Amino acid sequence: MEIKGENISFRYNIDSDWILKDVNIFLKTNQIIGLMGSSGSGKSTLCKILTGYINNYEGDVYLDGEKVNNNGFNPIQLVFQHPEKTINPKWKMNKALNESWNPPKELLDKFGIQQSWLNRWPNELSGGELQRFAVIRALSPKTKFLIADEMTTMLDAVTQVQIWQNVINIAKERKIGVLVVSHDKKLLNRLCDETIHLNIPFKIFFI
Ligand SMILES: Nc1ncnc2c1ncn2[C@@H]1O[C@H](COP(=O)(O)OP(=O)(O)OP(=O)(O)O)[C@@H](O)[C@H]1O
Ligand SMILES: [Mg+2]
Repeated sequence: MEIKGENISFRYNIDSDWILKDVNIFLKTNQIIGLMGSSGSGKSTLCKILTGYINNYEGDVYLDGEKVNNNGFNPIQLVFQHPEKTINPKWKMNKALNESWNPPKELLDKFGIQQSWLNRWPNELSGGELQRFAVIRALSPKTKFLIADEMTTMLDAVTQVQIWQNVINIAKERKIGVLVVSHDKKLLNRLCDETIHLNIPFKIFFI
């Protein structure tokens, strides 16, 4: 499978500057690609466009030639930079975890999730603890692409390695394509087949 973004341009308001201008992006399952760029260069915005959370952009995003939308299960899963914004505060973690699939306990152990956390509310977990749930939620057997927007930024170095090792193993096993958004050059060099740069003001690149 492949994601193809063609000539993507976007600005948040009609009278503001373009955040993205004619961006082209191509990602296949089985590829692990890094995305770097200074703060405010539009990385998170591009992630939201690729996963259908932002629709009013110019250009096209195709998944195997079909327009991407967010109705029903989306095979392109986004792990947001800030998990507290995406996990329903009114659901206990057990419910949030099992919303789209039922991850086995073995997987929770691999990601360092303690059983006692399942009975907590999202605001009773740290950002890093909450993000582990967000990662597992995104790894449904139906997932074909994982868009990881600064997914492990809030974790300590050891936990970051542990989480990424598990994610990469799963991605390789299931042939999931991964876009790794990060400011951490070392992390990108270690994980990715190649890294692309999203710069202001010229944002034309190919994967
Ligand atoms: N909802 C919004 N309304 C208006 N402007 C926004 C909105 N969200 C983001 N922006 C602006 O769009 C630009 C790109 O933001 P974005 O979050 O995509 O950057 P980023 O590359 O992910 O940055 P960071 O590395 O800090 O996460 C920024 O200038 C930001 O202020
Ligand atoms: Mg961002």
